[in-house]
Amino acid sequence: MEHIERVEEAFTRQAETFDAYAAKAGGDVVAMVCEALGAAGGGRVLDVACGPGAVTAALAVRAREAVGLDAVPAMLEKARERCERAGLSNMRFEHGKAEALPFETASFEAVVTRLALHHCVDPAPVLAEMFRVLRPGGRAVIADVTVSEDREKARLQNALEIVRDPSHTRMLPLSELKAAIEAAGFEIDAQTVWDAPREFEQWMEIVNDPQRTAPLRTIARALAEEGRDAGMGLSVRGGQIVFFHRWALVAARKP
Ligand SMILES: C[S@@+](CC[C@H](N)C(=O)[O-])C[C@H]1O[C@@H](n2cnc3c(N)ncnc32)[C@H](O)[C@@H]1O
Repeated sequence: MEHIERVEEAFTRQAETFDAYAAKAGGDVVAMVCEALGAAGGGRVLDVACGPGAVTAALAVRAREAVGLDAVPAMLEKARERCERAGLSNMRFEHGKAEALPFETASFEAVVTRLALHHCVDPAPVLAEMFRVLRPGGRAVIADVTVSEDREKARLQNALEIVRDPSHTRMLPLSELKAAIEAAGFEIDAQTVWDAPREFEQWMEIVNDPQRTAPLRTIARALAEEGRDAGMGLSVRGGQIVFFHRWALVAARKP
């Protein structure tokens, strides 16, 4: 099976549940992404792997035009509905792959991607495409969840994430995420890192795949009780399995 087929399967199944969660994912990330774009956010703006369009819709409030691209039609449908409900008309959505953006070189003032690199087989071609479509002097914002710099903890967290959702490939530690952004040609000028508290049961509801919930609950509880936090603060509090996602928002520009 090609990885993109796993993405299609997972995000078609999650269309309703992820749509309901997207606006509040990670706290105030949508507003942070918009703010980090500065004046570039008033131009033509691209949201790569836009999902149900929570970020795209917020970008469209200020942008000349906001464009959202995603590989999954069910997600694009949710994105269109969200923008329609908000009365927005200066946006459009495209079906496609982040690794081969169907846009002209240097055709956007700003490009963003949130919560998507860890679903791609390799972040390098995605970042290279984001760099290509951005105008020189344009601004990029990459926001994603990250893993510990400790390799063993990182391996454990990524394994748990893949058991929950096979479309997950690999969350990167912040150092590797930044190196990948720079390797694509960007100059990083700001970064913010924070922990968003999560509850296991709510996390499993989003993925909407009950067959995975029971075994993963058992594994997560056993790890937590053994004091293995997987770099994600895995623990049991008041009988509930809790953890955090460590977010990173990196703002960069194309020289
Ligand atoms: C966790 S959702 C995040 C959606 C949105 N960026 C947000 O933050 O609300 C991940 C999205 O990435 C999309 N995706 C994953 N891999 C992709 C790829 N290679 N090309 C385009 N879209 C992709 C999925 O279809 C899904 O909508």
